[in-house]
Amino acid sequence: MTYIPNSIEARDVASLVHMQTNLRRHQLEGPLVIARGEGCRVFDESGREYIESVAGLWCASLGFTSDRLARIAYEQMRKLGYYHLYRHRSTEPAIALAEELLRIAPVPMARVVFQCSGSEANDTAIKLAWYYWNAVGQPQRTKIIARQMAYHGNTCAAVSLSGKPDMHAGFGLPFANFKHTEFPHYYRRHEPGETEMEFSGRMAEALEKLIEAEGPDTIAAFFAEPVMGAGGAILPPQGYFDKVQEVLRKYDILFVADEVICGFARTGEMWGCQTFGIRPDMLTSAKALSAAMQPISAVLINHRIHDAMLAQSDKFGNFAHGFTYAGHPVATAVALEVQKIYAEIDIVGRAKRLGPILQSTLGQLKAHPLVGDVQGAGLILGMELMRDGQKRIPFDNALKVGARVDVAAMRHGLILRVVGDRLVFAPPLVIESHEIDEISQRLQRALDDVAEDLEENDLQ
Ligand SMILES: Cc1ncc(COP(=O)(O)O)c(C=O)c1O
Repeated sequence: MTYIPNSIEARDVASLVHMQTNLRRHQLEGPLVIARGEGCRVFDESGREYIESVAGLWCASLGFTSDRLARIAYEQMRKLGYYHLYRHRSTEPAIALAEELLRIAPVPMARVVFQCSGSEANDTAIKLAWYYWNAVGQPQRTKIIARQMAYHGNTCAAVSLSGKPDMHAGFGLPFANFKHTEFPHYYRRHEPGETEMEFSGRMAEALEKLIEAEGPDTIAAFFAEPVMGAGGAILPPQGYFDKVQEVLRKYDILFVADEVICGFARTGEMWGCQTFGIRPDMLTSAKALSAAMQPISAVLINHRIHDAMLAQSDKFGNFAHGFTYAGHPVATAVALEVQKIYAEIDIVGRAKRLGPILQSTLGQLKAHPLVGDVQGAGLILGMELMRDGQKRIPFDNALKVGARVDVAAMRHGLILRVVGDRLVFAPPLVIESHEIDEISQRLQRALDDVAEDLEENDLQ
């Protein structure tokens, strides 16, 4: 394609590398340039409106603009636009945000370590797991277990933790001491007649087998998202985390909960850990922590980890870790204000009220011929597209049904997230019920278009 010289599309193609994008195709097709936001909606350069049913990247919890947060950032920049937390220095917003996170933590936590992204938070948690085992005299515990199809980010370590083969291809990753256990996707993977409880038992057995095969005293930590987001909004099957935690306790393996998507009411409680009964040693959070208005993340660590870190300072004289912008005063001031907004609008109560509306409204589309299953918790939901939902027969991958629904949905003014043939929804937490209706109507039109297209061109 030839772009109009100096058009915004031409400038993009000539200057930017886009993430999770087919770079060759991008040269031909160019970008969709988003120009502005309004509540749960965004508008492109031509003024076309879209409902953002996945809050950008599961993160714009308060929608896409905020005068109130802009004022906080402005005031903080005027007062102190930068300082750091190195070498005993501190700032009030960082202290206040850490206090607030400790106050609302799902289990007693001792301290907060700030970084700038979810990937960095998980990377730091990996380092802290290694640091912990070194401190307590078990330095051979270097292996980390996560799940196939998990998404934990993109630094070298966080992507090694991630269990998505497409993210490893061509990079020579994952690193050798990252292991992946079974993907607990009940709908797709259960045996005929197998209950959720039985399936969860099988998942826990697979984890235990992996631990035994690798050597229990070589395993440092297990990482899991309460609901697997980029894996397709996969809910843990019934009993899953109880059984998994039993295995981890047996072998004294640390549990790190990746709450980067689930944290701050996404699943209907403040934390996914509360929704699913998880008691982590460390918890990573980002995204809705600042309503995505500032890049910031946090690792919450319990006393067991913190005591070991103190001992390491006695030994090494220094906690030799850090990022220039970690705990940035503007980011922490904004995130702190976000926490105030969450309290004022009762974000958990809101998720408890709107979550069932999202689940039931989109749940009705289970009757659509393309839809095999709909499952979610709170304000996150996954919809499986199947050739035959009853018999669990998937579409041929070559038909790219999910990608076709994605394109059709965009045509109808709906931005959603597609993971293979699974559609994922995680709208801003401030969504209203009439907007959920709009999502459902636009989605229905997109599904109808694709069903008709498949009928006419592919499935005779
Ligand atoms: C569960 C989870 N963990 C970690 C990350 C990485 O966060 P970031 O993109 O901020 O590095 C993501 C990003 O989507 C995520 O979904």
